[in-house]
Amino acid sequence: MPVDDRTLDDATLEELREIAARYPEPRSGLLPMLHLVQSVQGRVTSEGIEVCADILGITAAEVSGVATFYTMYKRRPVGDYHVGVCTNTLCAVMGGDVIFERLKEHLDVGNDETTTDGRITLEHVECNAACDYAPVVMVNWEFMDNMTPQSATDLVDDLREGKEVRSTRGPRIATWREVERVLAGFPDDLADEGPAAGPASLVGLGIARERGWTAPGGEASGPTGSPTDSPGESAELADTSRAESETKQEEGHQDG
Ligand code: FES
Repeated sequence: MPVDDRTLDDATLEELREIAARYPEPRSGLLPMLHLVQSVQGRVTSEGIEVCADILGITAAEVSGVATFYTMYKRRPVGDYHVGVCTNTLCAVMGGDVIFERLKEHLDVGNDETTTDGRITLEHVECNAACDYAPVVMVNWEFMDNMTPQSATDLVDDLREGKEVRSTRGPRIATWREVERVLAGFPDDLADEGPAAGPASLVGLGIARERGWTAPGGEASGPTGSPTDSPGESAELADTSRAESETKQEEGHQDG
């Protein structure tokens, strides 16, 4: 695929400085700054490294050390959709390995390679803390739960054809560059699309409430979730109640 060697324009330089200024120690802004570089240039370029170093007053080697340490930073161009297949233990035994092999064959790419049309970059990824929905595929860091080889090939076909694709948890799948901009700290206002947690993630909570179990030092909330004195706990319960309510609504839609 062609490499985007667009230089970072004045507006981007201003946004990079804006990110650095968010932190008491400007170098703390390096991670989101690198995401912003990726949102513009599709990868961490040499220019991006030099610019970040210059703004933060650190060396290019220090920036490069960070950019090559974390797997979310890419030195090679990424396609419109980064498809990450979890091949960690649970997903692997539940079908992740088979899905990854099927997608490599279907897309005619190897690990961390991009299709010739520049649409899909395929990569095997580590556990996404979504084991209760194994096997899991991530598209631009949105979850696609309970995948199969067939649903995974259908997914990449839809993405390549430009169809609107939604995460199995609700949100529309944005392009990789759009998502990189969100990771840089410029929200796209899609954060509240979809449920906060799904049924499989809430099974343990339901059992604990049924049986009156609490964490050490906590208070029993009862089956319906009694009010608590702790703002943090209240917020957590409110979020959980919202998730449960949304899950029930979804189940209602499916039953209907
Ligand atoms: S092993 Fe795949 S999400 Fe945990």
